[in-house]
Amino acid sequence: MTLENEINKHTIPQHIAIIMDGNGRWANLRGKTRLVGHQEGASSVDAIVTAAAELKIKFLTLYAFSTENWNRPPTEVSGLMELLVNALQKYTKKLVANNVRLLTIGDTKSLPKKTQEKLNETLEKTKHNTGLTLVLALSYSSRWEITEAFKKLAHDCCNNSISVDSITQETISKYLCTHDIPDPDLLIRTSGEYRISNFLLWQIAYAELYFSDVLWPDFKKEHLLEAIKDYQKRERRFGKTGEQIK
Ligand code: IPE
Ligand code: IPE
Ligand code: MG
Repeated sequence: MTLENEINKHTIPQHIAIIMDGNGRWANLRGKTRLVGHQEGASSVDAIVTAAAELKIKFLTLYAFSTENWNRPPTEVSGLMELLVNALQKYTKKLVANNVRLLTIGDTKSLPKKTQEKLNETLEKTKHNTGLTLVLALSYSSRWEITEAFKKLAHDCCNNSISVDSITQETISKYLCTHDIPDPDLLIRTSGEYRISNFLLWQIAYAELYFSDVLWPDFKKEHLLEAIKDYQKRERRFGKTGEQIK
C-alpha cells in the first residue's frame, strides 16, 4: 500500500500550519551559502503547496519570515525578499491553475515596496480561487499580532464601538490577522527544533503538534503524508474524556 492510500481522505486536517526550518543547516552541510538553502526551501514550498491542493486541504499556513528574522544579516534579509519576488513571479500562474487563493498575515507594510507590489499582484490574481487557501506569514510574529489586536480593541472600546463587557474569545479572534481562517488542526515544525518561535500562539491552543527531523529543503509530499498519517492516529479530546468523544 502506498503512503497516500494509508491516509483517510475523510479526516484530512482542514488547516495545516508549518514552521519551515532548516534551510541554513541544509546549505551548511553542503558547503553552500544560506541563500542557496532558502532557494531549495522555495522548491519545497512548491511541492507542499501542490500536494496540499491535491489532498484537498482547505488551509495551509507557512511561516516564511518572522518579525525576529529582521535581525538576520542584511544580505540574508534582502536575499530572502528578492527570493520571494522571484518565487511569486515563477509560481503565480501555477497557483491560479491549481485554484489556490493566496493570503498573507503579518506586518507586510514593512516589506520592501517591490515585494509588496508582487504580493499584491498575486493576491489580486488569486482572490476568487476556491481551492486551497495558502496563507504566507511574512514579517509575522504572534506577539506582534496580539499587540496590534489589543491596540485596535482598545481604540474600539474608547470610541464606544464595542463595550468591554461584550468581549468574548470570538471577539479576540476577530481582531487577529487570522480572523477569517479556522485554527490550525496540525502544526508541523521541521529540522528537529522543538519550539514555536512566536507562531500563532493564540490559534494553536488545540492544534496537534508534529516535529520532523527533516530539514525544510528535503521536506516533500511523502513527509507531509507521514505527518497527516500520524495526526490521524491521535484522539483530539478538547478537554473531554476519551469515552465522551467516542
Ligand atoms: C528557515 O530556515 C527559513 C527562515 C527562517 C527564513 P533557517 O534559515 O532558519 O535555517 P536554519 O535554522 O539556520 O538551519
Ligand atoms: C522560525 O524559524 C521562523 C520561520 C520559519 C520563518 P527561525 O529559524 O527563525 O526560528 P528560531 O530563531 O530558531 O527560533
Ligand atoms: Mg532556523
